[in-house]
Amino acid sequence: MLKIVVLVSGGGTNLQAILDRAAAGSLGDVKITCVISNNRGVKALDRAEQAGIPHRVVSPKDYPDREAFNEALLAAVESAEPDLVVLAGFLVAIPPAMVQAFPHRIINIHPSLIPAFCGKGYYGLKVHEAALRRGVRVTGATVHFVDEGTDTGPIILQKPVAVQQGDTPEILQRRVMEEAEWEILPEAIALIAAGAVSVEDGRVIIDRSLSGKEEK
Ligand code: GAR
Repeated sequence: MLKIVVLVSGGGTNLQAILDRAAAGSLGDVKITCVISNNRGVKALDRAEQAGIPHRVVSPKDYPDREAFNEALLAAVESAEPDLVVLAGFLVAIPPAMVQAFPHRIINIHPSLIPAFCGKGYYGLKVHEAALRRGVRVTGATVHFVDEGTDTGPIILQKPVAVQQGDTPEILQRRVMEEAEWEILPEAIALIAAGAVSVEDGRVIIDRSLSGKEEK
């Protein structure tokens, strides 16, 4: 069984997509052992509560400095003994010590087709604002392993989404979530749970024969 911890910061719609797939029985042999938020009172925590998943807050506001917060965050994640850490809209830079503690065992969903509109300063709505400013016709979402850079780790899955005339950042964000993020994040977890994902020379290899699904 793959034990996962999900880290969240806000609305938690990606967490919900994972919970729904788990409830539908299509995530494989996976147990969500804990949800951790860096923010109190966010909807993602209500979603965990509703699903009966243990949840806790590790907020930078409760620590004297970043280092102390980073240590507390790592301790909270480690205490859940996860096989996989899922960043589902977790808008906090992952401390290097966490990356070292979980090599190729942390995944992140990013709302663009990496390497476009990613890296420092590109998160949440800012990604979609930048995509609209540039006038791209196609954007999308990416699930990748987390390394010590920002959005630089090996790419697991990507899905394109068309930009439409008249899109606002909010409209585009919603379409990218609905058409891409909520699909590829649970899918990546299912592939990892099936043992179908490996990393060779910094690139991801997916063995679809193990996942029971052929590539679309
Ligand atoms: C999602 O669009 C996710 O891709 C993005 O934040 C949003 C969280 O929504 N993450 C990043 O920008 C990470 N760089 P959610 O809380 O409803 O899942």
